[in-house]
Amino acid sequence: MSFIDPEIFFTIHADLPREGPGETADVAWAAEIAGITSRAQILDAACGPGGDIGALLRVAARGHVTAIDKHPGFIEAATARWGKDDRVTLLTGDYLAPEGPFDFIWCAGAVYFVGIEAALTGWRAALMEGGAIAFSEPVFFIDTPSDAAKAYWGEEYQPKTLDGITAQIEAAGYEMIAHKPVSDIAWESYYRPLEDRISRLRRGADETMIAALDEHLAEIEGWRANKAETGYMLCVVRPV
Ligand SMILES: C[S@@+](CC[C@H](N)C(=O)[O-])C[C@H]1O[C@@H](n2cnc3c(N)ncnc32)[C@H](O)[C@@H]1O
Repeated sequence: MSFIDPEIFFTIHADLPREGPGETADVAWAAEIAGITSRAQILDAACGPGGDIGALLRVAARGHVTAIDKHPGFIEAATARWGKDDRVTLLTGDYLAPEGPFDFIWCAGAVYFVGIEAALTGWRAALMEGGAIAFSEPVFFIDTPSDAAKAYWGEEYQPKTLDGITAQIEAAGYEMIAHKPVSDIAWESYYRPLEDRISRLRRGADETMIAALDEHLAEIEGWRANKAETGYMLCVVRPV
């Protein structure tokens, strides 16, 4: 997506249930593979509006979730949902500087802002002995993606294949324990509410807003058209 004025971006995204693909079943899958217990201390790194906090609390009902995001508006939205639950701490800040230690670090759709090596290296000191990290990362499922699949991500960023992701995990001193493509349900859980928002905002929108709404719609259609070639890979990793 090209640059969109932040005010317009946050008008479109205000109070959406989540800010990227994700679903409860994926959190449960990753937590089970990581061996997370019901008393686990969990970091939801770049939690957005808190769409995964409920799923994380399901796997750690007697544990604690620290959810951090750099955008105060998302933390406000997450606080409206989870602020009264004393198993949850919500923080505005940088996800690379959490006060641990944690048994499990969950990061849906946000490692790519800094890159796998920087994120995994940055989190190592905050991870308890035996702890694990799960993150979803943009990926090309095939070695030679089409121009349309490349265009979905735009000119400034292109994902790697699974081999490239694995190499970066290993370069950071971790091993991949398991991986699976993020499901279509997870993508639709993000895109369907966004689609509804786009339709609603179109009524009475000015030219600038219409251009931003069209870009968002093109992104949704781009994923649906190219999902066989590209998406997110959910990776569960542990320090070696
Ligand atoms: C694609 S959204 C995913 C949000 C959430 N995990 C979800 O799935 O709904 C990426 C999030 O990363 C956050 N973010 C990006 N860089 C960050 C940083 N350095 N520290 C904390 N949050 C960051 C953004 O504010 C945004 O909420």
